[in-house]
Amino acid sequence: MMTIRLAQNADLDSILKVVETAFSDEENKVIKNLVLELSTETASPSIKSLVAEVDNQVIGYVSYSPISLKSDSSISGYILAPLAVSPEHQKQGIGSNLINAGMDMLTKDGVGVFLVYGDPAYYGRFGFTEEIGHSFVPPHTLQYPFGWTGMMLNDTPVPEQPIQFECVSALSKPDLW
Ligand SMILES: CC(C)(COP(=O)(O)OP(=O)(O)OC[C@H]1O[C@@H](n2cnc3c(N)ncnc32)[C@H](O)[C@@H]1OP(=O)(O)O)[C@@H](O)C(=O)NCCC(=O)NCCS
Repeated sequence: MMTIRLAQNADLDSILKVVETAFSDEENKVIKNLVLELSTETASPSIKSLVAEVDNQVIGYVSYSPISLKSDSSISGYILAPLAVSPEHQKQGIGSNLINAGMDMLTKDGVGVFLVYGDPAYYGRFGFTEEIGHSFVPPHTLQYPFGWTGMMLNDTPVPEQPIQFECVSALSKPDLW
């Protein structure tokens, strides 16, 4: 049976193993470093990470970190990154469960916008759209602009003008964008 819970410090090594096997050789150094930095960074509101377990083994991981909008402090936002599921457990809905659990958690926390930079062929099915992505301008130039998407939560209105935002330092690296 698969369960999802908040990640703890003691999960770090297992999470790094999941990332190492899920991402390609070129990507996994950068993503492991991101996981390490997210695990030590303190932010307010806090960074929230979830793990998925099967038979008490961590086989999936996702992290959600807060953003701060430069010109409209009335909207709170979170960004999803990274997401990984061990190859032998992929295509069983675990990635979807980690995203849906995050969406529920952020909705309950009253978050206004939920953003992700990734393959729209995957994230589109959860309701992330490019249109919402356009309203929130990341701190760095995007290498793959079509992968920048978002969704509004809690009936938050879409801003009339695109708004720039800042993210936690772990994500504030040009090579991640
Ligand atoms: C992306 C990932 C987390 C999905 O996890 P998962 O547990 O397999 O996801 P689910 O079971 O919920 O969904 C799987 C479906 O998504 C599809 N899918 C996975 N990656 C996809 C992509 N990049 N583009 C389009 N579809 C994708 C699968 O083909 C599968 O399709 P199906 O439902 O028609 O069979 C996993 O494939 C992974 O760890 N990949 C490597 C790391 C990565 O790319 N992370 C995301 C970027 S941060």
